[in-house]
Amino acid sequence: MRYLITGNKGQLGSAIAKRLPAANVVGADLPDFDITDYDLVRRGLERSNVDIVIHCAAYTNVDGCAKDPALAYRINGMGTQNLALACAEADIPLALVSTNEVFDGTKATAYNEFDQRNPINGYGKSKYAGEWYAQNLLNKFYIIRTSWLYAAGGKNFIHRIQELADERGELSVVTDELGIPTRVSDLADGILNLVGTKRYGMYHLVNGADEGDMPSRWDFAKMVLDLSGRTDFPLHKIKLADWERASTPPPNGVLANTTAKALGIELPNWRDAVAEFISG
Ligand SMILES: NC(=O)c1ccc[n+]([C@@H]2O[C@H](COP(=O)([O-])OP(=O)(O)OC[C@H]3O[C@@H](n4cnc5c(N)ncnc54)[C@H](OP(=O)(O)O)[C@@H]3O)[C@@H](O)[C@H]2O)c1
Repeated sequence: MRYLITGNKGQLGSAIAKRLPAANVVGADLPDFDITDYDLVRRGLERSNVDIVIHCAAYTNVDGCAKDPALAYRINGMGTQNLALACAEADIPLALVSTNEVFDGTKATAYNEFDQRNPINGYGKSKYAGEWYAQNLLNKFYIIRTSWLYAAGGKNFIHRIQELADERGELSVVTDELGIPTRVSDLADGILNLVGTKRYGMYHLVNGADEGDMPSRWDFAKMVLDLSGRTDFPLHKIKLADWERASTPPPNGVLANTTAKALGIELPNWRDAVAEFISG
């Protein structure tokens, strides 16, 4: 099987590419491959002779998306439209990686794959547009939602908390934004398993969590500090309302993996994954 991987220089795209024989991967990332250029996308796909597109490229700066929603839509919405149209023409499936931020976060429990989408910020709205195009322009698609990714060397919450703890004497983190941290290596394995099944549809792939385990950003930060040997580090609890930023995240962004689990695809528990990651 040959794969075209968009965003293959990013956290997730590079991890997926690394798991495959180089000869079976066509990378598609900036500056050579811009998903917002429809003609380039069509020609690129035509020439690549691949069996599937795994679409990881995105404008992932959530505050940037809030400040410039038109740019967010151009990349995350129209970029996905371009890929979906090209995949429809070539009759190959598209696996779109999406986000927990397509939900509004008001549900009391974890979100299932078919819960109502209602994004509340520019990033979520642009990713929802991408989902809409994949779902409505293609017969063969996977929409794979995930959350709170981290990988060695990537720009992510674990590295940020460790850096900030080095720089500052104390930190304040929100207790009312909930989600499941997800190790990129586990997600990459899960995505490759899933696209091997040809069971097209809607999926949530996040690391596993025990029933009722809905960690907050504060819980995640506390775990990172404790596991990094900073158990006494002053970590203050604040609310989303106390923290001024351009983008408002959905308060509850916890995803439940139900459809992938039904196919036998589950990722390791998030607490074990974070502990392993930090202990190196
Ligand atoms: N990171 C998370 O916590 C998280 C959570 C939920 C869902 N997701 C989704 O998971 C996917 C992968 O995320 P990630 O963390 O691996 O993202 P990432 O590290 O930011 O990688 C995204 C890649 O896409 C490239 N890109 C941006 N605009 C492009 C364009 N117009 N054409 C082609 N490539 C372009 C980026 O290039 P530049 O760096 O040069 O811009 C980058 O190499 C994304 O779809 C994201 O929405 C991520």
